[in-house]
Amino acid sequence: MNLASQNNESSKFMKRKVISRLHTIMKDIDKVKQDTTISSDEKKMKIKQLELKIEEGSKLCLLDVGALQENYSKQSKWLDAEAIDLNPQCEGIIKSDFFDFKVGESDVYDIIVLSLVLNFVSSPSQRGEMLKRCQTLCRQEGHIFIMLPRACLDNSRYFDHTLFEQMMESLNFDLVAKHDSKKLSFLMFRKAEKRKEGKTSFHKREVRNGTRCNNFCIVMR
Ligand SMILES: C[S@@+](CC[C@H](N)C(=O)[O-])C[C@H]1O[C@@H](n2cnc3c(N)ncnc32)[C@H](O)[C@@H]1O
Repeated sequence: MNLASQNNESSKFMKRKVISRLHTIMKDIDKVKQDTTISSDEKKMKIKQLELKIEEGSKLCLLDVGALQENYSKQSKWLDAEAIDLNPQCEGIIKSDFFDFKVGESDVYDIIVLSLVLNFVSSPSQRGEMLKRCQTLCRQEGHIFIMLPRACLDNSRYFDHTLFEQMMESLNFDLVAKHDSKKLSFLMFRKAEKRKEGKTSFHKREVRNGTRCNNFCIVMR
């Protein structure tokens, strides 16, 4: 896929996110300064902690799953990017299966990128598991970028945009942007603050038919 355009789009969005995070911390510092209920020592300590957050936390944490190359080195000033692959083709990519990666951890990343990976995973239930793992590893208000061949959404007997959005919604991800190129679908979801109630399991069922349809499918239990 076109990595340059993928990087451009995600770059713009991530810069906005860093700026918004900085604004929030600055506002918190102002609040502490104006707080008349705490001692000046307490104020100093709180302000120091918040300033530390700016130093340490102004970088967004990104995970690129199934990465053929390091796609985010140019953005390293404001992005802490980790890239993993089952079979890394170059240095800098961690050799790891996503299903064994950071097991037991949660809320680690601001952004998770699944570019042409879901369709690479062979079983429909493993694809569902991959999305579930993303939910665990993504921070609240974090984002997940998913790129899929358009055929997976536009021409599958068992899968379409509506079903995908429902599935993601069940994981508490809201669709915030989508774009189709000639052959690819680009989708960006944001993890909502509170878990929504509703359907959580999605079985294989026909959503369209026709002899030219493919059998791409994601199931979730
Ligand atoms: C088609 S390539 C996509 C490469 C790149 N992200 C892109 O958009 O061009 C799919 C990659 O996903 C990797 N992959 C598949 N399943 C994986 C898993 N469970 N954990 C880590 N990487 C995986 C494969 O090794 C392969 O390199």
